[in-house]
Amino acid sequence: MEWRVPLSDVNFDGAEARAAKAVIDSGWLSNGPCVAEFERVWAEAHESPRAVGVSNATAALHLACIAAGFGPGDEVLCPALTFVATANAIRYVGAKPVLVDIASPAHPLAGVEQYEAAYTPRVKGVMLVHYAGYAADAEAVREWCEAKGLVLIEDAAHAPLLKLEAGLFAGAFGLAGCFSFFPNKNMTTGEGGMLICRDPEVAELARSLRSHGMTTQTRQRHEAKAMSYDVEGLGFNYRMDEIRAAIGLEQLKKLPDANRRRAELAERYRELLRDCAEVELPFLKDRPLSVNHVFPVLLRNADGERRDETRNRMHQRGVQTSVHYPPIHWFSAYREIAAGVRLPQTEDYVDREITLPLYPDMTAEQQILVVETLREALV
Ligand SMILES: Cc1ncc(COP(=O)(O)O)c(C=O)c1O
Repeated sequence: MEWRVPLSDVNFDGAEARAAKAVIDSGWLSNGPCVAEFERVWAEAHESPRAVGVSNATAALHLACIAAGFGPGDEVLCPALTFVATANAIRYVGAKPVLVDIASPAHPLAGVEQYEAAYTPRVKGVMLVHYAGYAADAEAVREWCEAKGLVLIEDAAHAPLLKLEAGLFAGAFGLAGCFSFFPNKNMTTGEGGMLICRDPEVAELARSLRSHGMTTQTRQRHEAKAMSYDVEGLGFNYRMDEIRAAIGLEQLKKLPDANRRRAELAERYRELLRDCAEVELPFLKDRPLSVNHVFPVLLRNADGERRDETRNRMHQRGVQTSVHYPPIHWFSAYREIAAGVRLPQTEDYVDREITLPLYPDMTAEQQILVVETLREALV
């Protein structure tokens, strides 16, 4: 389908293609100088001492769960309102995700109150998610984790360059922060991810495990700095390649402007929808800082069926929408883990939520078309 307004779009120009071609021409295609440079500038941009480039954010979350020491018998608190990868990473290491509710549809983030409500003595850690690019209260959750002796991991897939009031960037509050460069994210490398951390041992472990647990890398052997290698742990191939890192470097240059443009568009949506009685805007009161990854709206007095009818009408008129997210406890693959789990705030939110298109190159006309289409679809 040719959308008149797609849900998201990349902001590539010639720079990404030129950077990718330069890598191809160089003949060195994986885990080399571009990855090292991308890690350096990513760490610097997020005021973190260390960054490790990986193949995607799911890999970063998995490595973070290994570094946290989560394992069988452990529980890890995780919002149900997130992409399934957040909870899957907990399961990869044999631990159990305990799904927590959001505060309310008006404030669809999990905070200390929600984590506390789900706490048991088996809980070893917390996954904090900056849903939709809005800052969760990482400072308060960090303090709570410290008091309880829990490991904090941040899923910052939606939140690159999000500086919180506490003065730290999203991703910098706990043991590790994980970012995604999937094409629908605020910046993209196609597939790609990044882990930031303070502890050098966490970075070293992530670097080793992203490349099969090997003690030396192909590049070192190519440069005759090493003859062979040992394998010190059960690693993976979670490497980032040079082409993606080169694209990432170009995208990161554009990210501050792209995030600014997202903020302008989000503000304009709020103005355009202010008098629309059928639509409720989350994050309106006590608005958390945001990099506006997506723009969620809620239909008043709707259920999932009415919401889907509205979305269908919008799609028929060429405006793509989404739902962020079908909650994790509703998935078949979580039937056993989440047996009996009821999360009333999350369920109410998800049943009424529609994600409207948002991307930096969206025009004023496209945005007006989205709002008009939504208003018509509601009638
Ligand atoms: C909140 C969240 N966490 C994790 C991921 C996984 O990212 P990736 O696709 O880079 O593995 C995503 C991606 O969609 C996400 O939205």
